[in-house]
Amino acid sequence: MRVLVTGGAGYIGSAAAAILLERGYEVTILDDLSTGHSELVAPGAKFVDGSLLQKAAVDSALEGVDAVIHFGAKSLVGESVQKPEIYWNTNVNGTRILLEAMREKGIKKIVFSSSAATYGEPKSVPITEGSETKPTNPYGASKLAVDYMLTSEAIAHEIGAISLRYFNVAGAYKSQSGWLTENHNPETHLIPNVLKATSDNPLKIFGADWPTADKTCIRDYVHVVDLIDAHIISLEKLIAGKHEIINLGCGSGYSVKQVVDAAAKTVGREIPFVVTDRRPGDPAVLIADISKAKNYLGWAPTRDLAVMVSDTWESQNVSNK
Ligand code: UFG
Repeated sequence: MRVLVTGGAGYIGSAAAAILLERGYEVTILDDLSTGHSELVAPGAKFVDGSLLQKAAVDSALEGVDAVIHFGAKSLVGESVQKPEIYWNTNVNGTRILLEAMREKGIKKIVFSSSAATYGEPKSVPITEGSETKPTNPYGASKLAVDYMLTSEAIAHEIGAISLRYFNVAGAYKSQSGWLTENHNPETHLIPNVLKATSDNPLKIFGADWPTADKTCIRDYVHVVDLIDAHIISLEKLIAGKHEIINLGCGSGYSVKQVVDAAAKTVGREIPFVVTDRRPGDPAVLIADISKAKNYLGWAPTRDLAVMVSDTWESQNVSNK
């Protein structure tokens, strides 16, 4: 089976492409390298350097493809508030172009990278796929729009689609050609920022006045390799005419301070931090109900927070200063 991995030069997409190849799939990658990195493109994959917005590039990337895993997107919450037009264009219009090209070629299988950001500030946790969707930023709204697009596409055109709603993805993958890890610019994610913290440049903890046990925010972290396993299983579970939405997390939460403590154990020193104001748009607690992932996909995460932190640490080879 040949799989098109959109966004295959990014953090999650590059690991997905490498794992697919190692498991015997043929892989094509479509990435415009606007946030991805050419050195992360899996050796052995066919690479198309182009954007989802360029129909000719999408057409060429779909040559000989049986199924699509669609990671390609803009994914910075803060940027989406400042420049929403980029999110509507790349995430929504880009997916519209991809679906149009798939329709023309008769490709009827897609696994989509959706997000917990579609839920917004939850009324209660754990969050199920039936919980209210009320995104608090254009990034989450754009992912929700694509979920709706896939539901209608499945009904009208008999495609099989699964949207996987990620909670907090972390960790790294050691592929045959080296570590594939997070390298965002700017880096906004907690675990890489914790591991980078120095006394001169301490971690900023965004608020220690939240309604949680230790007063810092709680998130549900899932290892990138477990996450990719769920995508590969999903490829085999697609049913023509059906769109399923499935949460991916660990089903339990860790506070920012618990992540800091786990990182201190891994690196063998205290993590310097300062407490700053809350970051606008952050919910207090996000925890996934992962019953559907377990029941529908037969998937369960196997790597805990300590593994996520140590893999990130090893992969980023952060020097102890
Ligand atoms: N945090 C800090 N300091 C930092 C970075 C993060 O205190 O330097 C805190 C945040 O306030 C939050 C937690 O650590 O409480 C996790 O923050 P991340 O930025 O790592 O992740 P988010 O929960 O904000 O974001 C994740 C995904 C997004 C998605 C969002 C949905 O990475 O793609 O969940 O809420 F949109």
